[in-house]
Amino acid sequence: MVNQPRTAILKALKESTGYISGEALSHQLGISRVAIWKHIDYLRQNGYSIESSPAGYRLKSSPDLLLPCEFPGMEHRIHHFKEIPSTMGIARDLARNGAAEGTIIIAESQSHGRGRLDREWRSYEGGIYLSIILRPQITPAYAPRINLMAAVTIARAIKDLFNLKAELKWPNDILIGGKKVCGILAEINAEMDRVNYINLGIGLNANSIISRHEENAISLRELLGMEISRKELCYSVLRGIAEMQTLLTEAELLEEWRELSSTLNREVRITASGESIVGRAIDIDDHGALIIRKEDGTMRHVFAGDCIHLR
Ligand code: BTN
Repeated sequence: MVNQPRTAILKALKESTGYISGEALSHQLGISRVAIWKHIDYLRQNGYSIESSPAGYRLKSSPDLLLPCEFPGMEHRIHHFKEIPSTMGIARDLARNGAAEGTIIIAESQSHGRGRLDREWRSYEGGIYLSIILRPQITPAYAPRINLMAAVTIARAIKDLFNLKAELKWPNDILIGGKKVCGILAEINAEMDRVNYINLGIGLNANSIISRHEENAISLRELLGMEISRKELCYSVLRGIAEMQTLLTEAELLEEWRELSSTLNREVRITASGESIVGRAIDIDDHGALIIRKEDGTMRHVFAGDCIHLR
């Protein structure tokens, strides 16, 4: 985790066109020049190229890393790792030990990334891999809404930053042109009447080269024909999730999900707990469950499962 002066130093270096003196930074931030030097040293050790001259410091280049100091206002909540088995494992340990709502775990790479339904999530270089610990004041029945909230937030961020229209495949895949660009995994710890925590894991195909490995997946870089800023996208998603949580229990969230959904009004097959349900996906209910009208006319509300679009 990082302290705010480092973020402020990096911000000042990014905003300055020329050199910025150690003295000016020390004055501006109210910390000693030795402390400034230590932060500069940390940044250099993490790949920032910072020139120094008698006039001060100048940022020449930044590494493509999602370090806490790249996210002003939330740096104190971020745990950053170069490589770990899975951000979900760290999130679970931290949540069990009482980590605060909004704690974020980011990994540059994962050796054992986990997908839904015990699948493997291959974490290619250039992707964004993170988990967020949430402690929403909802009953467990409303927990599926977390998936909808995350999916809507990410689709919005992709639209705002890259003008790409993402579609949401129930329960929580984000597709563009029918191919997956993002997967969401929510792990819940709850009692009968209250949620202790929900760890929300997000894997975003940002700059990865993925389509040649997985025919049903694609990255934003492959779609756009150029590298994107992982920092900008990650920051936008993290800010969006913080804001969207206020909509968790609002009808507006469901409305937005419906508009972006590629599952509604389609024939689908849902496999859940060994049962296969075939029918037309006609809506989602208040809890975020998918409402299926089966061929015999009966309705089923499905809370979780594997969904295949049939036609
Ligand atoms: C899915 O589509 O099956 C969900 C994939 C979720 C992947 C993310 S990557 C960050 C977090 N850590 C993991 O091990 N999994 C989630």
